[in-house]
Amino acid sequence: MNEVSDAVRLREFWDTRYANFDLSESGWMNAAAGLNERIYACKAQALRKAIAALGLRRDRPWSVLDGGCGQGYFARFYREAFPAATYVGVDISQRAVDHLHRAIPDVEFHAADLCSWHDPRGRTFDLVQSLEVLHLILDDDAMARALARLAGLVAPAGALLVTAASVDNTAQRSNYLRHRSAAFWNRTIASLGLRVAASRPIYYWLPAGGPANKYLRYGLTRLGTRVLYVLDRSAFHLGLPQPATVGVDSRMRLVTLQRV
Ligand SMILES: C[S@@+](CC[C@H](N)C(=O)[O-])C[C@H]1O[C@@H](n2cnc3c(N)ncnc32)[C@H](O)[C@@H]1O
Repeated sequence: MNEVSDAVRLREFWDTRYANFDLSESGWMNAAAGLNERIYACKAQALRKAIAALGLRRDRPWSVLDGGCGQGYFARFYREAFPAATYVGVDISQRAVDHLHRAIPDVEFHAADLCSWHDPRGRTFDLVQSLEVLHLILDDDAMARALARLAGLVAPAGALLVTAASVDNTAQRSNYLRHRSAAFWNRTIASLGLRVAASRPIYYWLPAGGPANKYLRYGLTRLGTRVLYVLDRSAFHLGLPQPATVGVDSRMRLVTLQRV
């Protein structure tokens, strides 16, 4: 698939998938709303840690660009957690962006492909993030171009935050998910003059919906999403190693990239 047809596919896919703009549409399609809320809470916790480590504070003005902003979870996150920050969202789905213009009218959103988007005002941003997006771009050149565009939007002392699964070999799991190998990431990052400043785990096993053992899983699932979440957070904070069976979704990491 070439870059142009990948962009057309992505736009059609996401314009179709966004129906009610709930978290299961931008998050885990097969998970219920309650589980998606907890999965998003894990992402927000990892994001807060990454932001704190960069010295970006709640009471100071700074700017953030959200590449692939979805239905607006992180626009709302920044408004609440960092009200002094200026947030700009970009998403390939015109339908999502039309919704965002109606739902959060005081925030700036653009409908565009990250592989080719130029900020009309030529700005750079203290923080550029793109969470759960790059593995959706199936064409490797297009993905590398999106990363290059995002890197070009980072202010001189700023940082780029992306999610990436930790996998040994590139694997296309379905007709819409492609997880690149560590070697691909390392090569691409180095070619852009970037370095990995930090790489944070996000989950223990929550996106997998609980443990792999079917009896344990059945029992825990019956106790409810809150119990699954508390167990995930406890194992995570204790630093327990993830089970080998956990699956690639749970192995997603939040990676901080900065200029060399
Ligand atoms: C899995 S959702 C994640 C949304 C958001 N980052 C979040 O974590 O809630 C992926 C989003 O990326 C957008 N997207 C996919 N490819 C894109 C591209 N090439 N340029 C801009 N947005 C893209 C989709 O439209 C979708 O809204």
